[in-house]
Amino acid sequence: MTSSFPFPVPNGWFRVGFSDELASPGVHPLHYFGKDLVLAVFEDGTPQVFDAHCPHLGAHLGHGGVIDDGALRCPFHGWRFAPDGRCVGIDYAKRVPATARLRDWPTRVRNGLVWVWHHAQGAPPSWEIPQVDVVGDPDWTPLVHKRFSVRTHIQEIAENTADPAHFAVVHGFSQPTDLVITFDGIHYRSTAHFDAPRADGGKIPSTLDVAWYGLGLGVTRSTGSLEIAFLGTGTPVEVDQIDYCFSFTVCHARGFSLESGVGKAAVDEAMRQVQQDIPIWENKRYIARPQLCDGDGPIPRYREWARQFYSDPAAV
Ligand code: FES
Ligand SMILES: [Fe+2]
Repeated sequence: MTSSFPFPVPNGWFRVGFSDELASPGVHPLHYFGKDLVLAVFEDGTPQVFDAHCPHLGAHLGHGGVIDDGALRCPFHGWRFAPDGRCVGIDYAKRVPATARLRDWPTRVRNGLVWVWHHAQGAPPSWEIPQVDVVGDPDWTPLVHKRFSVRTHIQEIAENTADPAHFAVVHGFSQPTDLVITFDGIHYRSTAHFDAPRADGGKIPSTLDVAWYGLGLGVTRSTGSLEIAFLGTGTPVEVDQIDYCFSFTVCHARGFSLESGVGKAAVDEAMRQVQQDIPIWENKRYIARPQLCDGDGPIPRYREWARQFYSDPAAV
């Protein structure tokens, strides 16, 4: 916890990897949620996240651990762990201790990304990451990932969507018309029409549809000069340090691509806009009881929605 943000790391699904890392077996060290972890990719391409440190004598499995015959093998004394975390072999022992296991984290592959379930008390997943319809759709391009880091709490980033007033001041949009913001279980969504800024200084009528699934996935769809979508995935490295990624796709039915022309300009514009947010996020302070005006979005309702992602909602 920090003085700027009075909340812990929230519960939910967070991106920890990319599907193209699953092409060959191996072990990757990770650091998320303030913890040392490893992503093991087994021979059949199945990923599994574990605690990094071996329960035997504490070696880091991400530094020298290998995948060996369906198990993750520790570099220190060679204990072997199955994908469910059980120790299944010790070459120099007659008996494997019954309680020897590595903590396994619920792990999924969805939308071209690898996800883990973080829960402060270790509870199992209470919902699943949805399949985003445009990812893998033959009319849409493969994802292009743009990664960056932000020194803030993940709840502050998702609050942007419930804050239409900043779109004009920070990003140069018009005030939105037809703004609708809905909250439904782990899902929260905002749709609006704006005149959005263009790279040449002009404006273009656009629709913006942002759908959040927990705090770890926000799917933005925008139509204007083209149809583009991106998955925004923010994973807490520490409670106040976010590894963020925008994974873009564009509908190429009319010949658009992400590498050139208006497709590339739209990616550059999204990245330019988030660069406008970052200094505000990195230097702001969370005001628990903000002074709001009638033109503000439903900030208190958003914060009430976000409370469901903490094990002790009364504390946040
Ligand atoms: S520390 Fe892992 S096998 Fe000994
Ligand atoms: Fe913003």
